Amino acid sequence: MRSIEIRPVVEEDLEPLAALAREIWTDHYVPIIGQAQVDYMLERFQSVPAMRAQLAEGYEYFVVRDGERMIGYMAVRPEPQERRLFISKFYLHKSRRGSGTGRLCMEFLERLARQRSLERLWLTVNKENPSIRVYERLGFRIAADIVTDIGNGFVMDDYRMEKSLLSNPEASAVSAS
Ligand SMILES: CC(C)(COP(=O)(O)OP(=O)(O)OC[C@H]1O[C@@H](n2cnc3c(N)ncnc32)[C@H](O)[C@@H]1OP(=O)(O)O)[C@@H](O)C(=O)NCCC(=O)NCCS
Repeated sequence: MRSIEIRPVVEEDLEPLAALAREIWTDHYVPIIGQAQVDYMLERFQSVPAMRAQLAEGYEYFVVRDGERMIGYMAVRPEPQERRLFISKFYLHKSRRGSGTGRLCMEFLERLARQRSLERLWLTVNKENPSIRVYERLGFRIAADIVTDIGNGFVMDDYRMEKSLLSNPEASAVSAS
């Protein structure tokens, strides 16, 4: 029986979360962007101090657990003015992919967005990341190219992907115009 638990991060989670992020990112991103950029991004975005700073800025982290084991994590930032939820991090350990946990996690984030009266999810994903197909399967569509300078000579060459949570987004776009 599935025993996946998703809960908000607590301080004691940050060290194991940073270790899990290092393992996932090294495995997944080194072939795409190289070791130097992965090391730089881990330090800048997924170190314990970096995550503490993000939490202080309004990011919300969630850990995904199976029993005692942390198997993944997510981070989001609500944007109430724009009625959007930015999905900043969405990661599962390699050994736990491809069996429906990602879909469960996305459903969790959709519920969270709806509870906060948000109408749209968005995220950025590297153009070479095979997870684009997963996001498409989960109802996202590519909305734009987005290239971000992250310093030290590195750029993130991404797609911006979006998913509307409105039952009939076309109708609402017409009525809003
Ligand atoms: C993205 C990620 C969290 C998704 O989790 P997951 O557990 O693998 O996803 P699921 O097994 O729930 O699959 C979700 C859907 O995508 C489909 N899917 C999975 N892999 C796929 C692939 N390679 N191509 C096409 N569809 C795929 C599944 O069939 C499922 O659709 P269905 O429920 O209609 O059958 C996980 O794969 C991951 O951590 N990837 C590496 C890190 C990463 O790139 N994160 C995103 C950073 S932007």
